[in-house]
Amino acid sequence: EQLRNIVQGMPKAELHIHIEGSLEPELIFALAQRNSVSLAYPSVEALRQAYAFTDLQSFLDIYYAGASVLLTEQDFYDMTAAYLKRAHADSVRHAEIFFDPQTHTARGVPFETVINGIWRACQDAPISASLIMCFLRHLSEDEALDTLEQAQPFLDKFIGVGLDSSEVGHPPEKFRRVFERARALGLRLVAHAGEEGPPDYITSALEVLNVERIDHGVRCLEDPVLVECIKREQIALTVCPLSNIKLRVFDVMGEHNLRKLLDAGLKATVNSDDPAYFGGYINQNFVAAFEALPLDASHAKQLARNSFEASFIEPEQKRAFL
Ligand code: HPA
Ligand code: ZN
Repeated sequence: EQLRNIVQGMPKAELHIHIEGSLEPELIFALAQRNSVSLAYPSVEALRQAYAFTDLQSFLDIYYAGASVLLTEQDFYDMTAAYLKRAHADSVRHAEIFFDPQTHTARGVPFETVINGIWRACQDAPISASLIMCFLRHLSEDEALDTLEQAQPFLDKFIGVGLDSSEVGHPPEKFRRVFERARALGLRLVAHAGEEGPPDYITSALEVLNVERIDHGVRCLEDPVLVECIKREQIALTVCPLSNIKLRVFDVMGEHNLRKLLDAGLKATVNSDDPAYFGGYINQNFVAAFEALPLDASHAKQLARNSFEASFIEPEQKRAFL
């Protein structure tokens, strides 16, 4: 109870949130109606019932289906505004938000519709927010390069690039050239690695792509040399406890390695990933992990401090948060 209050009121940054994963079933139905899109589920309840995942891919299939109701700039605005309001209620002071343009451009939605809607909601938000454009790793590097090309007129609207979607079989090195190009443009670099994929993917995300943060990265503990490197370089890990249980990266929360990551001296953070699908926003991720693991108020403070330190906000603003 006491911990719940500490977590609730604790200023924090959220660094791993896919905006399409914040789309609640109620909003999916409302947008489907507004846009005359037909859904494969008869009701909000039936859709929620379908949120029973066995692994990353089983989640991604339903996540991409949910995103199909997003057509207009207003749709992207409404989705993003809802998330930012919810994050504000969880004492999030700054969010770095992933978006997946390829999920939408592949359906014929213009790139500018996607980014303008999301960006405008960030401008109107009650908290500080910036955007990170993710490439879908199940698609080709040429398609990622084409997406970066389309993004050129909007370089003032996002701060970095990331890599998400189906991990196994799509190693970071597949995207070497596009990350090189993004780096040359002055963009910040992150990548999902070591969620379902092996620790080698974390190593190549760092060494081949030169990423500055690892999204998930929980499998790093399988490789002691890698752990030393992550620690030495102070690379942050954006850990998502509820996601890891729902997608069976760990069987139960009591087996999650968050405490072990902190004890190893790694800069771990707690985040929600896809809160509408995994059963909770950021504070619920803190509470679920803290109830199941030997973590106390000092760990909560450390995780909050880590979230600001690992963020891409300017040093001056960072000092104000710390
Ligand atoms: N992993 C990979 N891709 C994703 C995720 C994730 O956790 N969430 C949304 N896209
Ligand atoms: Zn993710």
